Amino acid sequence: MVANTINEDENMEMKYQKGVKHLTESGIITSKVPRKYILPFPDRPNLSNREIDDVKSRKINLPIIDFAHLNGNNKSQVLKSLAKACQEYGIFQVVNHGIEMETIHNMIDVSKRFFELPFDERAKFMSSNMYSPVRYGTSFNQNKDGVFCWRDFLKLSCNSVNDVVPFWPSSPVDFRMATQKYSEEAKSLYMKLTEAILETLGIMEDTNTDEMIEKENSLKEFEDGSQLMVLNYYPACPEPELTLGMPPHSDYGLLTLLLQDEVKGLQIQHQGTWHTVEPIPNSFVVNVGDHLEIFSNGKYKSVLHRVLVNSSRSRISIASLHSLAVSRIVRPSPKLINEDNPRRYQDTDFATFLEYVSSCEPKGKNFLESRKLT
Ligand code: OGA
Ligand code: NI
Repeated sequence: MVANTINEDENMEMKYQKGVKHLTESGIITSKVPRKYILPFPDRPNLSNREIDDVKSRKINLPIIDFAHLNGNNKSQVLKSLAKACQEYGIFQVVNHGIEMETIHNMIDVSKRFFELPFDERAKFMSSNMYSPVRYGTSFNQNKDGVFCWRDFLKLSCNSVNDVVPFWPSSPVDFRMATQKYSEEAKSLYMKLTEAILETLGIMEDTNTDEMIEKENSLKEFEDGSQLMVLNYYPACPEPELTLGMPPHSDYGLLTLLLQDEVKGLQIQHQGTWHTVEPIPNSFVVNVGDHLEIFSNGKYKSVLHRVLVNSSRSRISIASLHSLAVSRIVRPSPKLINEDNPRRYQDTDFATFLEYVSSCEPKGKNFLESRKLT
């Protein structure tokens, strides 16, 4: 009898490893969330079920950066808003970014069709190797999480895109083409944003030839940086008040560009309260990651965010995470350190980060906290 129970538990554990899409589509769960996904009370979304489905409460109007104005007469105004957004919120929305609607639409559409493939087709990409150029998985860190999150994902390395595309899924047939096109457009938008952000930090003011050369060298360093795309799938959940699609976390890189479908779910913490981000069609949510907080010596803050699920609709998001090349060290810019403003963070490299996430459960902004100098 006892042995039987253990086998059943192990059996269920193996099913959870296959992801929430598999759980919901194979009829294993219907009206209740399994215990594996139930968060302890203080970690729950803390909203009534109705509020989650109809997240009208506590909406936040994120700062909006109109890219069309970045090259015109209003440039200094746009840079000011950008600086304020990075300082006070760690997040903003970008409109008029110049990426074609078709590219965006195709990316969301092909991601949906990927997650709708039969389980065996998706499972081909399951891997516990953090360095794998393509990795399908579930939860946040499925080897570590005590309680699982209501999320499946496909992670795609984009460095260098022509080398990695052959590893990406070849089904749906248009997957590689749509995803490569989107990843290149996202990278180019990231570069424009980075140039503007460096300007707001006073690092890019081109006053003389030496500084022009320095500017080009540093842009090259960002251009040669890493890009990781994460396709997130959050199935509808029978008891969304008990679980989360993603726990509170900050992203590790410099900037994350997030594309979401029309379903709400993303929340950010601002002044101690959780606020739901209202999706604007064809726009990007851009958030400051830990590396930009370090690079700016704490002037800009990475934003703590999490994802709610809902009982009626599944949700798709596509995150493009950008940082320096994995071999490079991220450190506060020497231009931002002086007597009044001493260095606040230790040098950080990607290996340290990977070591950290595989040795302890990432919670909130604890990786960044571990890099702070006291
Ligand atoms: C992420 C993330 C938010 C979302 O992928 O790091 O925070 O809305 N995604 O899916
Ligand atoms: Ni995130």
